[in-house]
Amino acid sequence: NSAQEAMYEGKAKRVYRTEDAGVYRVAYKDDATAFNGQKRGTIVGKGVVNNQMSNLFFQLLETKGVHTHFVKELSERETLVRALTMLPIEVVVRNLAAGSMASRLDLEEGMKLAHPIVEFYYKRDDLGDPLVTTDHIEALGLATPSDITQVKQMALRVNEVLSDVLRTVDVILVDFKLEFGKTDEGEILLADEISPDTCRYWDANTNEKLDKDRFRRDLGGVENAYAEMMRRVREVASL
Ligand code: C5P
Repeated sequence: NSAQEAMYEGKAKRVYRTEDAGVYRVAYKDDATAFNGQKRGTIVGKGVVNNQMSNLFFQLLETKGVHTHFVKELSERETLVRALTMLPIEVVVRNLAAGSMASRLDLEEGMKLAHPIVEFYYKRDDLGDPLVTTDHIEALGLATPSDITQVKQMALRVNEVLSDVLRTVDVILVDFKLEFGKTDEGEILLADEISPDTCRYWDANTNEKLDKDRFRRDLGGVENAYAEMMRRVREVASL
């Protein structure tokens, strides 16, 4: 029931407890933020797209050996997921230079990288989620060396699976962000979401941006881009 108090409220989702202590209910909102909350807005229908796209990708990834938190889609905006202890890190995989990497290293957006790059960011809103090395993560006890090895392997596998599948619908997966959590038994699962909020998708023919950069950079056509990506991912899912 929607009157229930959220256990956790993030920028784009609310998380609720359920009668089963091992399962949470996630509800996706249309609220959009960028630049660590400095820019705010609404993307109509975003919650539906992000919920449904994440769930399609999670189910695809399960068939490719990547274990995820996905349990069951309840409605357009709501999904049951495994309750996890989240690692306080964001894992970014990049195939082309864009966004913060292009800015930080003065690279042209779209420059092909010789191989996919994995980056780690410490999830700390008050610090603006700083880039950290695996040594920082280990020395600060944010994750164990074995966690880091597994998370990196899983992130690269996600990149292979999603890059291949998106290519079939003329989308280049430029980069994306993942989050992981641990079960009580110590298994690491892919969690959070995989959506136009958390990925850069470029049309393979026109390089048109089909993701949240349209909101971040005031490019217009935000809702249409989300809807177009949903259409293409559905096409893949129905193959
Ligand atoms: O901004 P940056 O270039 O580092 O983002 C890399 C990728 O991670 C992009 O696809 C972006 O959408 C995603 N990201 C995210 N949440 C953040 C930071 C980045 O989903 N807090």
